[in-house]
Amino acid sequence: MRDSAGAHAATQTILMDVDTGIDDALALVYLLSRPEVRLQAITCTAGNVGARQVALNNLALLELCGRNGIEVAIGAEVPLEIPLVTTEETHGPQGIGYAELQAPAQQISARHAVDVWVDEVRAHPGQITGLITGPLTNFALALRREPELPRLLKGLVIMGGCFYYQGNTTPTAEWNTSVDPHAAKEVFAAYRGLPEDKLPIVCSLETTERIEMRPEHLRCLGEAAGAPEPELVLPEQPEGQRSTSGNPLVACLSDALRFYMEFHRLYDQGYVAHVHDAFAACAAVGRTPFTTRLATVDVETDSTVLIGTTVADYRGLWGLPPNARIVSDNNPGHCFDELISSIGSLARAVGSAPPGA
Ligand code: BDR
Ligand code: CA
Repeated sequence: MRDSAGAHAATQTILMDVDTGIDDALALVYLLSRPEVRLQAITCTAGNVGARQVALNNLALLELCGRNGIEVAIGAEVPLEIPLVTTEETHGPQGIGYAELQAPAQQISARHAVDVWVDEVRAHPGQITGLITGPLTNFALALRREPELPRLLKGLVIMGGCFYYQGNTTPTAEWNTSVDPHAAKEVFAAYRGLPEDKLPIVCSLETTERIEMRPEHLRCLGEAAGAPEPELVLPEQPEGQRSTSGNPLVACLSDALRFYMEFHRLYDQGYVAHVHDAFAACAAVGRTPFTTRLATVDVETDSTVLIGTTVADYRGLWGLPPNARIVSDNNPGHCFDELISSIGSLARAVGSAPPGA
């Protein structure tokens, strides 16, 4: 499959696995806005919504951004060992809040997501950075098929987990890990003993919840896109109000993020949206500063109360080698400047493209 743009200037190759998802959508659009990024493929995991809906969302977003020829493949439609739970309450009936995207023209790939991971990474050793912003089901299955994936990848960035920090799904568990704790356990086990530069960078809730999108960020996005009217998403507006922006990408993101802000308000977090996955995308391409801390991570899969809880041993108390680099600090202001300027430029281009281009 040939991508319609970006191939020549690309210096970073990303293979992305998502459960799109409002913040996954923002992460995807951000990567599409980066001229140095080549998206090798997008694989889809069930999580926020079912895997097929995730794929349709990704295809529609690619088309909205004027891109075709990027493969979108479905993998596991259920977690490894437990029943699938989805969260339309958090991400809207289709997973993208109030945004309504046109049915995509491009088809879902005939390849299984696990084949995509194994074949692409084997074919491009040391070149591909993996970015996973959904449950780890597909990647765990890919590791069963090719245990050398951690060495063959250039790197891996995961959004998931929370360490000694309140969960967003159970009191101790984060959503992506909670949906498929057995997959997360297998993935962390597969990284034990690897060199430090190969260990996954783990963007967990303690730092991703700092990436708090507010109405002013959407106003700035509208400005960066050159939209003639200010993009106003405000707490006093009626719930479900839709964007009137003449810029289709701004309107889509605004309608998606309004839903996410209303959801966060419902849970007493204020009229904000934690855009976890967008931070992970910025981190994966190295365009926002962050620090990490080495840890040995394991995931609870047996206890009824604690299932999905991620535990980090920062002190070597288990006597096991580290298997993760957990993000310990980040810079929300820098991250939003990067997201807004980069996505704003893409939106400007999308808004000025002739219809059907
Ligand atoms: C994660 O869960 C999902 O709802 C979001 O898309 C993000 O990947 C945050 O816990
Ligand atoms: Ca996600």
